[in-house]
Amino acid sequence: MKELAMAPSGLHGRLTVPGDKSISHRAVMLGSLAKGETRISNFLPGQDCLTTVKAFQDLGVKIDREGENLVVYGQGLKQADKALDMGNSGTTTRLLMGILAGSSFTSQMIGDASLSKRPMKRVSQPLAKFGAEIDLSPNGTLPATIKGQKLHGAQIQLEVASAQVKSAAIFAALAAKGPSTIIEKLPTRNHTEIMLQQFGADIATDADNLTIHVNPGRELTGQEVEVPGDMSSAAFWLTAGAIVPNSKLTLAHVNLNPTRTGIVQVLKQMGAKISIEQLPSKGEELGNLTIETSQLAPVKLTAEDIPAVIDELPLVALLAACAEGTSEIRGAEELRVKETDRIKTVSQELGKLGVEVTELPDGMIIKGRKDWQVKDDNLDSYGDHRLGMMAAIAALKSKQPLKLANEGSISVSYPGFFSDLEKLLK
Ligand code: S3P
Repeated sequence: MKELAMAPSGLHGRLTVPGDKSISHRAVMLGSLAKGETRISNFLPGQDCLTTVKAFQDLGVKIDREGENLVVYGQGLKQADKALDMGNSGTTTRLLMGILAGSSFTSQMIGDASLSKRPMKRVSQPLAKFGAEIDLSPNGTLPATIKGQKLHGAQIQLEVASAQVKSAAIFAALAAKGPSTIIEKLPTRNHTEIMLQQFGADIATDADNLTIHVNPGRELTGQEVEVPGDMSSAAFWLTAGAIVPNSKLTLAHVNLNPTRTGIVQVLKQMGAKISIEQLPSKGEELGNLTIETSQLAPVKLTAEDIPAVIDELPLVALLAACAEGTSEIRGAEELRVKETDRIKTVSQELGKLGVEVTELPDGMIIKGRKDWQVKDDNLDSYGDHRLGMMAAIAALKSKQPLKLANEGSISVSYPGFFSDLEKLLK
């Protein structure tokens, strides 16, 4: 149980958030598939990304790591001599399924209790259209056996708006014989596509931002990748800056890829005082974000808004809990299959603070209030990193001390979270 800090005098200062989780995973993956050395800086040393490093080491790739700097020596993959342990990481699991589907060997994958409940048919089914053979448990979950096959090109329409599923399909398409077209339901984060272009792949997205064309055959070559700051980590401090009285803070070098900036749009819609300074960048868009305490108006989100803010929806709920009026999040049924059922767990934790949240099958209705009436000061992450951090941000605004159970899960994506908080409290 961790005693959570309060912030009666607000949060101040400037912070550089850790490297982006999605981009860190992909840099290791592409570095492993490419020929030659890939040098990665500002890598996120969170548990999930370390799971990716370990998996590729188990697949025979030499990877040296010194803190946030990695060198990946790409030389092709070899069969692992044991089951690959995916830990808590959905991204490692789903993207690696796409990579291993076209390998020349069989692999096994296992995961922790939470990951072993998460749906994997959403990957095995589209991959089957390329000729992949992936066996899952009878529930469609891990453990999985991936029998590497010679794949063929395909035209596929994805049924879930998921960057993980899309990326798995892209990896299968790259290993296939012949071109492929992958069509998304809604645009999702496009880091795989952008980084593959940098590594030399023949991949292009149509102007609709939904249709992706992959022409296999080009060799990938090792690159330098500087990982930008993670918007999903910055989002915790943006939320804190907006809701904690007397705050003003700046987040430096944050990735501003438009498929990830949904939280900035939501903050703007809610009337938050937020400003963006765009920075020059060789890779994805980058900038500094400044936020200060703001009076928030309620917000309504629908399915089209969800992919760009998918991981920040617990924070949107927290912002809504502080807004004057009733907010609605709809079209977000994907929240039910994250590290926890985030519709249920977010409603439960905000309920402990006296906030009225109605669970919907695909979202939440949240009645904001100026002052919370804490009913239960024992908050819980339930093993979900983003829920644990949401609770810690809520505590900053609370007038009554709160505690957090299972705070260890935060290291999945943000190992330095509490030390960064200390910096902003000074
Ligand atoms: C991710 C995609 C999203 C996101 C996850 C990271 C990625 O998952 O929630 O944290 O790196 O591709 P889905 O693709 O399941 O929406």
